[in-house]
Amino acid sequence: MSTFTLDTSTSRATPSPVPGKRTTVPAILARKANGTTAEPIVMLTAYTMRMAQLLDPHCDMLLVGDSLGQVIYGLPSTIPVTMDMMCAHGAAVVRGSWHALVAVDMPFGSYEGSPEQAFDSAADIMKETGCAAVKLEGGEVMAPTIRFLVERGVPVIGHVGLTPQAVNVLGGYGARGKSADEAKKILADAKAVADAGAFCIVVEGVMEEIATKVAQTVAPPVIGIGASAECDGQVLVTDDMLGMFERTPRFVKRYDDLASRIGEAAATYAAEVRDRRFPTADQTYRPKG
Ligand code: KIV
Repeated sequence: MSTFTLDTSTSRATPSPVPGKRTTVPAILARKANGTTAEPIVMLTAYTMRMAQLLDPHCDMLLVGDSLGQVIYGLPSTIPVTMDMMCAHGAAVVRGSWHALVAVDMPFGSYEGSPEQAFDSAADIMKETGCAAVKLEGGEVMAPTIRFLVERGVPVIGHVGLTPQAVNVLGGYGARGKSADEAKKILADAKAVADAGAFCIVVEGVMEEIATKVAQTVAPPVIGIGASAECDGQVLVTDDMLGMFERTPRFVKRYDDLASRIGEAAATYAAEVRDRRFPTADQTYRPKG
């Protein structure tokens, strides 16, 4: 069911026929009161205008994740993702949405150098896309940068546990927190990010027990991916969730099998073109009368 009509001149989902305004940072923060979240926060990734339009009515937040490196550009990791890519896709997602809070990932190399570098990059992302927040990876080490951004008007989502931009240090994408030391570090990272002012924290690829402990310990909402059902919300890469890839990580639930369905549609089209069954009279222009 669609809850909006499209402006056919621009293909934009706005103006919304449903009175209301975009979900705000304080509204997300307010979802967790006294350490509990009555209704879990729903977040999905989006990289394009059309996908944003389709997901927006169902999501509290849309994340323009740097996972677009692999999903859209076929890159081997998120490391080569650029500011230009994040800004172009971020702007498309903002144009295609009216309800969800849109957050854009800061790409590798755009924020780690110094708080000042991070602020310049975040400001560029916010100005060029119209997004309401940025997300950056890292725990204790990034806490001063998060504080610097938040104090200057940049809402920040933290990201701890498995941090894909650190794949070369971590040596892969395996779950984190299997040893006591690693578990302690993940909790310390989440606390540092929360204390620095992040308005929510993504916890990715960690042992369930640790994710639950993080959610119970920090004040801002904790959004899990490969984490725990006890988190304050969940996020998945939309293309994984829709079954666009034959192989998906263990923590992904496939809600559809779009890859097969697209393959079948393409095969039918190809057969009809080859048999001259497409186009028919319905799809060709002929003189009237
Ligand atoms: O880049 C991304 O899509 C993400 C999510 C997996 C949380 O960071």
